[in-house]
Amino acid sequence: MPKKKLLPFVCFLLVGLNLVALTAGDDHQLMYSGFAGSNLILDGAATVTASGLLELTNGTLRLKGHAIYPTPLRFRDASNGGATTRSFSTSFVFGILSAYPDVSANGIAFFVAASKDIFSGAMAAQYLGLLNGTNNGNATNRVFAVELDTMQNNEFGDISDNHVGIDINSLISANSTNAGYYGDGDGEFHSLTLISHEAMQAWVDYNSETKKINVTLAPLKMGKPARPLLSATHDLSTVIPDMAYIGFSSSTGLVNSRHYVLGWSFAMDGPAPDIDIAKLPKLPREFPKPRSKVMEIILPIVTAAVVLFVGTVLVLLRRRQLRYTELREDWEVDFGPHRFSYKDLFRATEGFKNKNLLGVGGFGKVYKGVLSVSKCEIAVKRVSHNSKQGMKEFVAEIVSIGRMQHPNLVQLLGYCRRKGELLLVYEYMSNGSLDKFLYCQGEKATLNWIQRLGIIKGIASGLIYLHEEWEKVVVHRDIKASNVLLDSRYLAPELGRTSKATTSTDIFAFGVFVLEVICGQKPIMQDSEDNQLMLVDWVVEHWNRTSLTDTVDAKLQGDYNVDEACIALKVGLLCSHPFPEARPSMRQVLQYLNGELAVPELVPAHLSFQMLTLMQNEGFDSYILSYPSSVESMQSISSLVKER
Ligand SMILES: *[C@@H]1O[C@H](CO)[C@@H](O)[C@H](O)[C@H]1NC(C)=O
Ligand SMILES: *[C@@H]1O[C@H](CO)[C@@H](O)[C@H](O)[C@H]1NC(C)=O
Ligand SMILES: *[C@@H]1O[C@H](CO)[C@@H](O)[C@H](O)[C@H]1NC(C)=O
Ligand SMILES: *[C@@H]1O[C@H](CO)[C@@H](O)[C@H](O)[C@H]1NC(C)=O
Ligand SMILES: *[C@@H]1O[C@H](CO)[C@@H](O)[C@H](O)[C@H]1NC(C)=O
Repeated sequence: MPKKKLLPFVCFLLVGLNLVALTAGDDHQLMYSGFAGSNLILDGAATVTASGLLELTNGTLRLKGHAIYPTPLRFRDASNGGATTRSFSTSFVFGILSAYPDVSANGIAFFVAASKDIFSGAMAAQYLGLLNGTNNGNATNRVFAVELDTMQNNEFGDISDNHVGIDINSLISANSTNAGYYGDGDGEFHSLTLISHEAMQAWVDYNSETKKINVTLAPLKMGKPARPLLSATHDLSTVIPDMAYIGFSSSTGLVNSRHYVLGWSFAMDGPAPDIDIAKLPKLPREFPKPRSKVMEIILPIVTAAVVLFVGTVLVLLRRRQLRYTELREDWEVDFGPHRFSYKDLFRATEGFKNKNLLGVGGFGKVYKGVLSVSKCEIAVKRVSHNSKQGMKEFVAEIVSIGRMQHPNLVQLLGYCRRKGELLLVYEYMSNGSLDKFLYCQGEKATLNWIQRLGIIKGIASGLIYLHEEWEKVVVHRDIKASNVLLDSRYLAPELGRTSKATTSTDIFAFGVFVLEVICGQKPIMQDSEDNQLMLVDWVVEHWNRTSLTDTVDAKLQGDYNVDEACIALKVGLLCSHPFPEARPSMRQVLQYLNGELAVPELVPAHLSFQMLTLMQNEGFDSYILSYPSSVESMQSISSLVKER
């Protein structure tokens, strides 16, 4: 490439670079509409918020914050041999937020300073982060500032707590006045409140010829008033060196305040560019409410307490809900009148308290209770039941058994179902009332022969259902569950016949019950010599002596059917046979009682209790122990009928 052609290109490049340098050094202008991504040096508490606000202080007490334009500007006029400070002009939009409506501390200052490091030793509060008690007023500081001061400090001769001041190396202002502006139209002074939480605009102009410093203030969007608020005449050449930094300083004292700058423009040798107000970030509308130390401690405690309280209430409500949860299915509508609410039963039995426990049977516990509304005394049998199948038939059956029972006998009032649990509600019969009708001391029996036979047959039919239909329907379907039970609970395989054993135990108990009802005697009776005697043995003895009918309740006064009585007594004995295998099925029992089938021949001696005691694994002992009175034996049998 020929050299001649290259030269103009290089010259053009050099001229271009020179222009850039001139712009940077001499005709400096800058403009910030918000400070997001700005290059300012931030110091102390100063920060730029997410919305682009320059936050000089953040509400923490006794803080200082600085925002400094990163490069020093050339303030001396080169044409003048660098003797005088050039004219300059700046404008900025600021806002001061205080936690309190009428006090704020301490203020904002625009500054021009010889060094960006002079503020490290500066103090907060009334020193505005500019100076300190030692260097205040010293000409070596070389600081020019315009303060927007919201505290009246008498040591600095402050005129008020809402003033604007021109500061030269000192916080004792060269001139100061209350914040406000002179209206262009009326020329009147309008005061402004620096801590009004409203953004406002300030201008600072210096003329190098007149050495005049003008400070102007105006509400936002109003534009610059023609008449400055405050002036001072000072040759800043004595203050501002050739190269100087510009920026903002702010401080807080003992009042929770925040100081913001929203936008800023600066120009050397001419008016500061107009700030586009529309582009500025918004001041926070509300000052974040100050929290006292007390609240900082109390609030978390109160919050935790409230959370705990609400949580506890919810847990209790849920537990209450679960506590009373019932199982209810569509088919149960038919049995509606027989359905009790679990809540009522729970309350009636005082939450199934042990003190209300009447007895523990093979199929569950029986509790005494009093229904709160009717004051009706009830007995509640809790039967655990995990099978859903057959439940409909079962409930239908227990309800019908309940209907057909003798009114003087334990009456099934209804039931309630929960998950895995069936509750049967009976009319409660105190010992006295049952004793009265079976073992009363009066001459005349309260239950006649027909009634007694009716009760026996009724219970026999119930047991048939339980032993045949019910087992067929339910127990066999539960075969899996019982297998699991066998695996985990029973050790000897022959004991796997539990369900059979239970059935024959029922029949045994039924046999004793039949004898009780026919003889009007308790299972353990006293003979004429006051010896304890088993009812079974006593009946067997009479049979041996062919005086079987002597065992029939004397209170019937002979008013009974002898054949029926003999059959019933023999059935009773047969059912309480020591060998479970010898006991008849309940279906056979009913057939004997109805005269449809002849009672098989028995050897009475084989039926004695002495034989029975050899059969430790049979139910009699536990039967006697569990149901020492015949009242409870009757209750247990009748509820047995209903329960399974
Ligand atoms: C304010 O700024 C100071 C200094 O950076 C800091 O220690 C303090 O945590 C800040 N306070 C808040 C409320 O942000
Ligand atoms: C006052 O400020 C100056 C300048 O930052 C510093 O050199 C000096 O140590 C400060 N004095 C005190 C007492 O803090
Ligand atoms: C002003 O500051 C300079 C330098 O820090 C110091 O030498 C001088 O004594 C100070 N003047 C006064 C009046 O304190
Ligand atoms: C300062 O204000 C006066 C009065 O309005 C005006 O004459 C003068 O030009 C202003 N000076 C600057 C530097 O703005
Ligand atoms: C202070 O400012 C006011 C208002 O601009 C002005 O009238 C007054 O002359 C100034 N005082 C001095 C000493 O410059």
